[in-house]
Amino acid sequence: MRDTHAFWTWFDLEAGPKLGAREVSFRKAFAYLDTLQRTGPVTIVETGCTRIAGNWAGDGQSSVLFDHYLSHCPAGSEAHAVDIDPNATAQCRQLVSNRVHVHTGDSVPVLRQIARTLADAGRTIDLLYLDSFDVDWKNTTPSSAHHLKELVSIVGSLRSDTLVMVDDCPAQARMVGTEPGNYSLISQPEIGGKGGFVAEYAAQVGATLLFSHYQAAWTHFV
Ligand SMILES: C[S@@+](CC[C@H](N)C(=O)[O-])C[C@H]1O[C@@H](n2cnc3c(N)ncnc32)[C@H](O)[C@@H]1O
Repeated sequence: MRDTHAFWTWFDLEAGPKLGAREVSFRKAFAYLDTLQRTGPVTIVETGCTRIAGNWAGDGQSSVLFDHYLSHCPAGSEAHAVDIDPNATAQCRQLVSNRVHVHTGDSVPVLRQIARTLADAGRTIDLLYLDSFDVDWKNTTPSSAHHLKELVSIVGSLRSDTLVMVDDCPAQARMVGTEPGNYSLISQPEIGGKGGFVAEYAAQVGATLLFSHYQAAWTHFV
């Protein structure tokens, strides 16, 4: 049985208030997972693991959050966290239980291996969280392209109701200053940062945008 009441008490009192700009979207992501109410274990896959203990507002502590959520899910619930930096994965292993399988390597090929492992076990993903290759806000293309490649690598493990969430992708728009302190939009806000190309692809294939804050999330990629 999934009874996440105790998770929400912890989230409301301890984690949420420290999460800053990500509180609203992590709250929505976990609330969405609650609505799935599938029987059997829950599966979460993330890229970019927790690399600094206690860095809630800076990075988000995703691996710690996922581990807590899964501790209230049926036996066999698990997460896979991938990071290219062995120092990050070593740190992450100190912070999470053995429900979280921590993989060291480039996420694009490692996600392909995880997809095979999940398929062999008859598992699909409930939440895919993409937060690896740090974004350069003056040139978002390398990071944004990497996150689209991640989605391609693992797409075979998605269901239509799988939540795909990307970090560091606030909507961006062009503005002109009219008078001091006043601006007019000259383009509609579009999701940028790490999620720019994922958002473009989502729109082209008719995926459903669930929310767009500092993090954005979709269902129906497949
Ligand atoms: C922002 S941090 C992740 C923070 C984490 N999600 C959290 O909430 O605590 C980004 C991580 O992505 C990792 N990374 C960068 N490029 C990568 C790649 N090609 N494959 C896998 N991980 C990568 C970095 O080593 C770094 O640890």
